[in-house]
Amino acid sequence: MNATVYRNGRLHMEAVPLERLAAEVGTPVYCYSLAALQQNYRDFVSAADGLNAAVCYAVKANSNVAIIAALNRLGAGADVVSIGEMRRALAAGVPAGKIVFSGVGKKKAEMAEALQAGIMQINVESEAELRLLSDVAVAAGKTATLAVRINPDVDAGTHAKITTGKKENKFGVDYDHARRVYAVAKQLPGLNPVGVAVHIGSQITDVKPYRAAYELVAELVRNLRRDGIAIDRIDLGGGLGIVYGQENAPSLTEYMKIVRETVGDLGCHLTFEPGRWMVGNIGVLLAEVIYVKPGQARNFVVVDAAMNDLIRPTLYEAYHGIKPVILPESGAESVLSDVVGPICESGDYLAKGRELPPLASGDLIVLESAGAYGAVMASTYNTRPLVPEVLVDGERYAVIRPRQTLEELLAADRVPPWLK
Ligand code: LLP
Repeated sequence: MNATVYRNGRLHMEAVPLERLAAEVGTPVYCYSLAALQQNYRDFVSAADGLNAAVCYAVKANSNVAIIAALNRLGAGADVVSIGEMRRALAAGVPAGKIVFSGVGKKKAEMAEALQAGIMQINVESEAELRLLSDVAVAAGKTATLAVRINPDVDAGTHAKITTGKKENKFGVDYDHARRVYAVAKQLPGLNPVGVAVHIGSQITDVKPYRAAYELVAELVRNLRRDGIAIDRIDLGGGLGIVYGQENAPSLTEYMKIVRETVGDLGCHLTFEPGRWMVGNIGVLLAEVIYVKPGQARNFVVVDAAMNDLIRPTLYEAYHGIKPVILPESGAESVLSDVVGPICESGDYLAKGRELPPLASGDLIVLESAGAYGAVMASTYNTRPLVPEVLVDGERYAVIRPRQTLEELLAADRVPPWLK
């Protein structure tokens, strides 16, 4: 489902004209469609029909409490990677029993809080973590229900910064050492190893690596059972790619077919952790053109959103589609343009070398597919306040995170008395 649509030449999100959002909330602003979010969730669940499975939405993709709450109302759990994210999930009403805690560097206090909350499962990524978790669990008088995340040494074929399943990546326990680590888990006090977890990367557009990884998981589950460890859960991670531009994103059906064929007959409860797939295409970043600067090599369109608001193009050379909020006259000639922000470095761009309709100061544009890893990765670099977020539902909308004020931003700093 498309998050935006032109009506009478004007871009809308559901029934709300984006011009209205820009006038009332200001720009830049992230806008999300509730209907698109709900549709995504329902599509995911229906593709998994018949499987004994749960969706634990990877909160990191978009951790606004309103987004988590909307998914929770439909039945989703949460995959969190910090205690901050766990608190967001709990604040959104997600029952502790539907929360999975992943991540390569959990600290003692985080483990203790997660055990206290009684979450569904902790995904452990190393033997050192296993030992610390045992200590923390014993001290708290709790038993930690856990899965070990394995590193299957499979290349997910995605951008180097977001591939996680190769042995040179920091994630998970080497596949070859996994049985030994489970043996340690079995013998340590306070631990209940019940699952195998895997996550091989993000924005995966070829399903073959999934098959390779899930086959290895299935083999491990069988071996562990032979070793006397009763595995009855598998966490299949996230990573399913979406269409940003020209890529051929896999269909859910293809993906679920692989799931069924590889791990479907083990009698295990399955957890899916989609992040990007759930929220990527529900949102846009709405921005206003400040200046148009014809350059010798190309046209620079300077907008009021920048790399601090959406860092994906800078960090991953990511592509986000760009649309004008008001459709140009038919026949208007496109112009080869770079869309850049006001930040003082050349890496501050949102798009390069795009054929765009002629734009002028004051025009509005959207960066598409910005619902995932957009607002959550925003910073205040160049003392630019954190960008606000809006959730649209039919004809209404709500500001689900107001724009940070400069006063709030400045109030966070402290000048020591000896400098005054
Ligand atoms: N589960 C685990 C353990 C993860 O580490 C991740 C993402 C997910 C699930 C969700 O993956 P997804 O379904 O969203 O692909 N900032 C990057 C993406 C980083 C992904 C990190 N881990 C980007 O903007 O492309």
